[in-house]
Amino acid sequence: MKSDTGALDALLSEDRRFPPPADFSAAAVVRDPEIYRKAAENREVYWAEWAGELDWFEPWHTVLEWSPPHAKWFLGGRLNVSHNCLDRHLSGARRDKTALLWEGEPGDVRRYTYQQLHAEVCRFANALRGLGVEKGDRVTIYLPMIPEAAVAMLACARIGAIHSVVFGGFSPESLADRNNDAKSKVLITADGGWRRGGIVPLKANADEALRDSPTIEHVVVVRRGGELSEKVATGLQDGRDHWYHDLLAGASPESEPESMDSEDILYILYTSGTTGKPKGVVHTTGGYLTQVYATTRAVFDLKEDDVYWCTADVGWVTGHSYIVYGPLANGATVLMYEGAPDTPDRGRFWDICQRYGVTVFYTAPTAIRAFMRWGDQWPGRYDLSGLRLLGTVGEPINPEAWMWYHRAIGGERCPIVDTWWQTETGAIMITPLPGLTDTKPGTAALPFPGIEATILDNNGEETSAGYLAVTSPWPSMLRTVWGDDDRYRATYWSRWPNVYFPGDGAKRDQDGYLWILGRVDDVLNVAGHRIGTMEVESALVDHHAVAESAVVGKSHDIKGQSIAAFVTLKEGFEGTDALEEELREHVGRKIGAIAKPELVIFSADLPKTRSGKIMRRLLRDIAEGRTVGDTTTLADPAVVARLQKMYAEEE
Ligand code: WT7
Repeated sequence: MKSDTGALDALLSEDRRFPPPADFSAAAVVRDPEIYRKAAENREVYWAEWAGELDWFEPWHTVLEWSPPHAKWFLGGRLNVSHNCLDRHLSGARRDKTALLWEGEPGDVRRYTYQQLHAEVCRFANALRGLGVEKGDRVTIYLPMIPEAAVAMLACARIGAIHSVVFGGFSPESLADRNNDAKSKVLITADGGWRRGGIVPLKANADEALRDSPTIEHVVVVRRGGELSEKVATGLQDGRDHWYHDLLAGASPESEPESMDSEDILYILYTSGTTGKPKGVVHTTGGYLTQVYATTRAVFDLKEDDVYWCTADVGWVTGHSYIVYGPLANGATVLMYEGAPDTPDRGRFWDICQRYGVTVFYTAPTAIRAFMRWGDQWPGRYDLSGLRLLGTVGEPINPEAWMWYHRAIGGERCPIVDTWWQTETGAIMITPLPGLTDTKPGTAALPFPGIEATILDNNGEETSAGYLAVTSPWPSMLRTVWGDDDRYRATYWSRWPNVYFPGDGAKRDQDGYLWILGRVDDVLNVAGHRIGTMEVESALVDHHAVAESAVVGKSHDIKGQSIAAFVTLKEGFEGTDALEEELREHVGRKIGAIAKPELVIFSADLPKTRSGKIMRRLLRDIAEGRTVGDTTTLADPAVVARLQKMYAEEE
């Protein structure tokens, strides 16, 4: 667990309480506390009620089949996700309602009504079919935050193709790995995307990845990148590469949605684990859509007139569930922004909130800490009185950041929903309900109605401090790891019998609220994103100068954690500043900029047990500047003192 006991004590003595404002509660989508009791009484009936709010082509005959560790939901039911996100909103007034409201970093704006978005998705669905994409084929999406990202996802869903979205910040090598693991047939990318005033050359990255992605037959390129476009145009490979706008020009705006089985796969999304390559988390159709629909509605209290903004990138699960599928299934107006929060200045987000009248705002603690550091003057310049509900996700939020969010952004009037979930859970699992739950800074409060979560010890006994556990299957749970069901069993279902292990530590307070304390495995949480220590270590060892490395997380004011790498060089290499920078760049190339170590410590030896296992626990103590724990099992205890000294010099 990353917090030391002092921090835990501080968290648990947090006794500020914020009941929902009376007017908020009175008008809330969920305002009857009976929902918790009803859901607990019969979870299947309860989830079936939510599912019944979606459109099904064929009804299900069985709500749940649980043969641990595999669950199926709404068996026999048939539906289509894009139909639920688009077509079913076209019969009434929502037809002309704004579905997607998009602002590019340079300030360009695009608006799609539900009808327009439907037409665009149908056109692209037809274009994909024209490229030979069939139900069950995999399509990789490597795009910036532009409307076409949502269009591409929905178009895949429409024809039953399985999408695998790869975050635009990932390196060519990461992209190729994911193409190959999924055996994708088509790659959808863009010439470039705007970030902090510059253009990220996505097509150039994609081309590099494509040299090593033999299964990709076609590449669709969206034109976005201004001056890059011309260069990209001349580099298009005949027969393989196609401009998105050319494909759409000839395509019909009508396309029959594929009738999908409730358990057909909707998407794969890769996420980091402790060992090996990222895992392809598999989500299916009916259960996933049911839970993202239900949680978007109940947790974000969505009403017809809301302007909803989730600042995540579509490359992460938050973008899948709470930019695209959940809000559109609810017929909401979704705001999407392409760029950085500090371009052209640090007021950009608040300027956007004011100009579009954003009412519900969902972001990450790492962003909140950055805003807090930038100071009150930035939000202070804008009228944020339109906001009525705030949310956070990605890591535990420290109470000071929560209080700042509450005051400087929420004007002390907006409830804050701190939502705990994971790529694997697909949708929100632990959260306050904004019209019902008293919130406390730093806790995600209670399991969502219909979710059963608790805290267990190593033996599977209930305890008030230990591991978070989910004790029964939920509709949007991952179904397996793509191509590796053994890994699915081993990672999530082997700690306790038939109970899901999320990998987080947690404590329960006197009100039964769950306080998530962070990861208990060797997975880092950098700026709200999971990075496996193993991945970074493999990238380092891949460099010709490196013999061995050990990577640990270190507390960071804004990012939550940053990466510290202990590196042993091969004979004949010297740990210079230049080499340090080279290693950092190397990791950036192998994985992506997000995984670059902030600190590289060269050391002739690492603390190892007599059997040769690196004791990361001790390295974490060193990186955090804590008293180093038990060193009696070390082969050479003196190594710790040497490292501490070197570390102090480096920092
Ligand atoms: C891990 C999942 C779910 C989308 C974003 C991250 C941490 C997430 C919270 C929260 C405390 C949180 C956990 C979890 N986490 N939300 N509200 N409070 N911790 O998705 O990359 O799959 O990471 O993020 O450690 O296991 P992810």
